[in-house]
Amino acid sequence: MKTPTHPPGHNVVRMHISEASGAVEACRLLVRHHDEQIALCRRLEDLADQLPDVVDTQSCLRLAKQINAMIRTAHEHEERTLFPMLLAAHDDDERLGATIERLRYEHWEDESYADEVSDGLERFVTDRASSNPETLAYMLRGFFEGLRRHIAFEREYILPLLTSESPQ
Ligand SMILES: [Fe+2]
Repeated sequence: MKTPTHPPGHNVVRMHISEASGAVEACRLLVRHHDEQIALCRRLEDLADQLPDVVDTQSCLRLAKQINAMIRTAHEHEERTLFPMLLAAHDDDERLGATIERLRYEHWEDESYADEVSDGLERFVTDRASSNPETLAYMLRGFFEGLRRHIAFEREYILPLLTSESPQ
């Protein structure tokens, strides 16, 4: 019986990055972090709309305390797990390298901004005389608008790469 011949590479099972070890969980975690940050943006927008007449100052303080941890946890996951995974799977894509550098820079900017927003919210509650609500509202809008743009880009560009076929 004649052994069937196949073109070179026929028996190579092409892997999707989504099938790689840990990739599914990494992807799931990215989406969860995005959802948490989108909810945070909504709360910050509500707050900016209320200023200077914020009634629930305790919730304002809680928000101030949550921002940094939430942002840094999300960034840590992307930078330590997700980006290296993507770069390894798409190592011939020079544009991806440049894009990830830009995303890392935006993370750094957002973390600095998160510190300022957090301080601003805390000052508004604990030392209102020294707080300028207009400046705070402007700061909040700058922060959540930038964060929303960053998340929208990652959802549009990074998430599809996690489910695309990796080059062999
Ligand atoms: Fe990010």
